[in-house]
Amino acid sequence: MDQAKKIGILTSGGDSPGMNAAVVSVARCVMRKGLKLMGIKRGYNGLLGLSENPGDDIEYLDPETVLDIMDMRGTYLRTARCPAFLNPDVRKKAADDLREQGIEALVVIGGDGSYHGALELCRLGIPCIGIPGTIDNDLSYTEATLGYDTAVNVCVEAVRSIRATSRSHDRPAVVQVMGRNCGDIAMRTAIATGAEMVIVPEMEWDLQEVADRLSFLIKKGNTRATLIISEHCWHKMKPFDWRKVIADNNYIIHDDDPLTAERLALTLKLLSHTEARATVIGYTQRGAIPSAYDSAFAFEAGRMAVDLLSGDTSSFEHGFAIGVHDGRVYSTPFADALDENKPKYFDEELYHLINSL
Ligand code: F6P
Repeated sequence: MDQAKKIGILTSGGDSPGMNAAVVSVARCVMRKGLKLMGIKRGYNGLLGLSENPGDDIEYLDPETVLDIMDMRGTYLRTARCPAFLNPDVRKKAADDLREQGIEALVVIGGDGSYHGALELCRLGIPCIGIPGTIDNDLSYTEATLGYDTAVNVCVEAVRSIRATSRSHDRPAVVQVMGRNCGDIAMRTAIATGAEMVIVPEMEWDLQEVADRLSFLIKKGNTRATLIISEHCWHKMKPFDWRKVIADNNYIIHDDDPLTAERLALTLKLLSHTEARATVIGYTQRGAIPSAYDSAFAFEAGRMAVDLLSGDTSSFEHGFAIGVHDGRVYSTPFADALDENKPKYFDEELYHLINSL
């Protein structure tokens, strides 16, 4: 096959701001080239007929439909994680079904798990392009993932408000942001808001040290410091019996209760004799309207995806992932994008600076 005539598109994994804008961009560029775009619902599940309404799994995306989704939050195509796609037989059937429906190529908008699925489809003869749709910014081959900038903006806005209330009440704050195993959202939020402390999954941390720093800041007159924590940072905590601190102060705690933002705030309150409060920002990061940066990135990524798929796809066995390098949108083979020997860069110096200023 030299040129795909009917292209499929799906969003997979956690939704991220900009996914709809990328679908619109692909749709507009596909139509300009006289090709046809099919929207596949609920990630790879839509290829497997696993969703509750199988008749609704794949739909033709006409210009009227897509123009309306540009400003929509979340993902119009719906999304899901699809463990069944780890099975080679399942993937083979998906590739066969795609061919049967005349869908000759696929645009996959999602994170690294979605990319692995796309790479396997490429190996089965379905040319795929990946657009890095995840707020986490956890892919080493790209300076930005789609939705990351928006997620940071949401967190910065929230932390600025929290810091205002912290100042009003002389109360420190613990604010938890998303990012799975990547501390980029936490780090960027911390530097953009002037937060005094940050904890990320990339670095070991010590609860007593955090409490000591908070006590030090309070002593110096800063009674409303902010600690930004990245979710999933708990496994990097050095051993510390925080349950004992809580129990010794007559709060109820069970042996199997996990450490959470709220319990961390309570422990800090008890250790530093202050009224620390916790906020978990959560899905407001994912369901936000894309920032100008993410909208523009989505447009350029969509355009590049269609350019690649409408060219010669005969040597597409490794597919391509779209990313940003030196501030410019570019493409690289999936194998390179997923290369485990190229770990994601983490700025340790900046981390120490935030925690010491
Ligand atoms: O990958 C995006 C993300 O929001 C991560 O930051 C988070 O760990 C994960 O998805 C949570 O996913 P869900 O709540 O959809 O299971």
